[in-house]
Amino acid sequence: MKKDIFSEFKLNGFTLKNRLGVAPMTRMSSVADSIPRQDVLDLLVRRAERGAALVFSEALVTDYESAQGYPGQARLLTQRQIDAWKKVTDAIRAQGSLSIMQMFHCGRVAWPEVNPAGRIIAPSPVTPRQKNPLTGNSYPVPDTISRFDIQHVIQGFVETAKGAVAAGFDGIEVHGAHGYLISQFLSRYSNHRSDDYGGSLENRYRFANEVVAAVRAVVPADRLLTFRISNWGVVDPDVSLFETREEWQTLIERLSAEPIDAISLSTYDFQAKGFGTDKTICQLTREVTDLPLMICGKIHDLSTAEAALQDADVVLSGKSFLLNPDFVEDVRAGKTLPLHRSEEANIAYTEALLL
Ligand SMILES: Cc1cc2nc3c(=O)[nH]c(=O)nc-3n(C[C@H](O)[C@H](O)[C@H](O)COP(=O)(O)O)c2cc1C
Repeated sequence: MKKDIFSEFKLNGFTLKNRLGVAPMTRMSSVADSIPRQDVLDLLVRRAERGAALVFSEALVTDYESAQGYPGQARLLTQRQIDAWKKVTDAIRAQGSLSIMQMFHCGRVAWPEVNPAGRIIAPSPVTPRQKNPLTGNSYPVPDTISRFDIQHVIQGFVETAKGAVAAGFDGIEVHGAHGYLISQFLSRYSNHRSDDYGGSLENRYRFANEVVAAVRAVVPADRLLTFRISNWGVVDPDVSLFETREEWQTLIERLSAEPIDAISLSTYDFQAKGFGTDKTICQLTREVTDLPLMICGKIHDLSTAEAALQDADVVLSGKSFLLNPDFVEDVRAGKTLPLHRSEEANIAYTEALLL
């Protein structure tokens, strides 16, 4: 039976009023205090006002040392940062919608100048093949992350999660996707370690497991904890981060054993087939997990949303929500809607996006 985009969905103790959520989108608008520009915060509230059941924050940076990957990213560690986000989460809740804070550490996908301490760390001293598209420069060779670094980085995730709880977010998301630090540990492509954190999938998974365990300990049971995962990264995007269907499904099985409330699956295109099979990566994921699944990637109108929902529970849109304030109502009306190109989303980083 076809699932209804406008039906409710129960997630832990929460009820989503429909199945449409705003995907996390970095906006690079923060200045010295690591708080996004007011219009950037307002846009999140406006999407809730216009019907989004769920709104993700941009990826917040987990420390002041090595986590930041782009200029103008935000943090959630100080009282002023907490106060700024509290207004956002209150306003989203007033619309009957949920808010989830996403947090990340960039690892080797680093922009050296933006981290106050200027450190660049990654599982292995290996750079992406491609250059940084924003600067045109090669990515610097990262320092191999030490055991000391691992503890420090995990503490950054923990403190940021505490900030999110204090700021009233309904949920916290660990960003384990897109080739950033956690994803770098998970994939053989970027993890060449020979210690307990490299080699077998079990070892490559260890860092993700430690982050989730440490974060869950500070996220109350009545708030959500989600994990975002992908088979692609923002650098060297053609690389399949995992090699086989078996490797992917083992990873999902491990994730499903974590104390998390949902898996958020990020794809380029939710309809693309995965690992040489005739199934989408969402179908391959659904085969091995009973956890609620969020799916994202080229979902831009009613028919793609309905198709994506068949194998998932919630659909997230990035560019469509960014560029169209009426996206939810347009989907409800079954309007013909554009599939936005990546370049159109560059407006995210300007002051001209007042939708
Ligand atoms: C401007 C912009 C910023 C993004 N920033 C993030 C981010 O901070 N965290 C994340 O997990 N994904 C990020 N993404 C990826 C989106 O969440 C989403 O997965 C991607 O846009 C594909 O969905 P779409 O086809 O609906 O746009 C970003 C995308 C865009 C367009």
